[in-house]
Amino acid sequence: MKNKIYICDVFDFLNKLPDCSIDLAIVDPPYNLKIANWDIFKNEKEFLNFSYRWMDLMLLKMKPDASFYIFNTPYNCALFINFLKDKKIKFNNFITWYKKDGLNYSKTKYVNNQESILFYSMSKKYYFNSDDIRIPYESNKRIEHARKKGILKNGKRWFPNNKGKLCPDVWQISSVRHVNKINGKIVKQRHPSPKPREMIERMIRASSEENDLILDLFAGTGVVSLIAKELNRNFIACEINKDYIDENLKEYLCLKL
Ligand SMILES: C[S@@+](CC[C@H](N)C(=O)[O-])C[C@H]1O[C@@H](n2cnc3c(N)ncnc32)[C@H](O)[C@@H]1O
Repeated sequence: MKNKIYICDVFDFLNKLPDCSIDLAIVDPPYNLKIANWDIFKNEKEFLNFSYRWMDLMLLKMKPDASFYIFNTPYNCALFINFLKDKKIKFNNFITWYKKDGLNYSKTKYVNNQESILFYSMSKKYYFNSDDIRIPYESNKRIEHARKKGILKNGKRWFPNNKGKLCPDVWQISSVRHVNKINGKIVKQRHPSPKPREMIERMIRASSEENDLILDLFAGTGVVSLIAKELNRNFIACEINKDYIDENLKEYLCLKL
């Protein structure tokens, strides 16, 4: 089972997926924000039952040195961490995605313009390529000076890295919805909440090597699979609605498990 996008329910899919087969999972599940039919749950308890069920199944599918990322609201991520704390896995980061776009414009509290991403690995031994996801330095004057002479730090002379600085856990990346606005107005998209390519590429470069198998659960447009393919990784995806899948991935669709 690789380089296929299965159009089916997540639980049917996970039950068929071989155990200990996945190197990296990037999971963008429902948030219980009622943005579409698939995002509506009777109550929080039902949403959490659903979330914890797919998490438990997913953990069985991960190799012992695998990593995974889970998207959600900061509030739900806090609950997910509480659930995952009893598993024998390693918590690495609570990433804040500053998406430069509000989900709602409330005047009774602060406008939500962040989402969260949990980054875990299955054990202490996991792949992480911090050099491949460096980002540009911000203070150019200081960096230019340091390039010539270095900066004395703890008795050693430090020189800036040509690829930029190490990636922090706050990611400033505009949402697709924000980038696609025309004259400030939201344009209806094929999918209500696609994730930016730049963000997915960062995760794949940091946490996988060529030929690894990447799990794209709740695939939506299939952006994870698309970028996995471009970066010479293998992918295996599941999405319930085939109309969401990007045109460039149609040849990988499987309507039967
Ligand atoms: C937050 S969206 C993922 C968007 C995706 N990351 C992208 O960039 O396009 C969640 C997706 O999960 C799918 N989904 C919801 N419930 C599902 C289920 N029980 N089984 C399979 N897919 C499901 C929805 O159709 C939706 O496309």
